[in-house]
Amino acid sequence: MVAVVLVGHGSRLPYNREVVEKLAEYVEEMGDFEAVEVGFMEFSEPSIQEAVKRAAESGADRIVVVPVFLAHGVHTKRDIPRMLGLEPDWEEDHGHDHDHGHHHHHDHHREYEPVDVDAEIVYTEPIGADRRIAEIILDRIKEALEE
Ligand code: NI
Repeated sequence: MVAVVLVGHGSRLPYNREVVEKLAEYVEEMGDFEAVEVGFMEFSEPSIQEAVKRAAESGADRIVVVPVFLAHGVHTKRDIPRMLGLEPDWEEDHGHDHDHGHHHHHDHHREYEPVDVDAEIVYTEPIGADRRIAEIILDRIKEALEE
């Protein structure tokens, strides 16, 4: 039995959470999983660990964690694996290649304490470059030009 956790970055504003929650609804409808939960790297609730615990409560023996990030970065390579109790594949601790507008990752309010559940955690690749994403970009361009 498989449960899924979609991980968003999180934000002080509600938009990131709303998008990730909507995507989770679609994944739940379109897939066949015991549970689909959302968790956030920072700012938004619930935390990643909390989301994984909720997923484990479904009784699933495998929990697939999907970073809903376009590309890998420090969060997907280091922070999220740490929270999942997996081996990070980027360990440098000074600074960060922060490209999303905030630069105070040292006052994280998030716990890095790895989650401990009785299920196998499977961590996927981020969204990446995919022609289906390019189709969405083309839609947005079209919509903006039609306005
Ligand atoms: Ni961040």
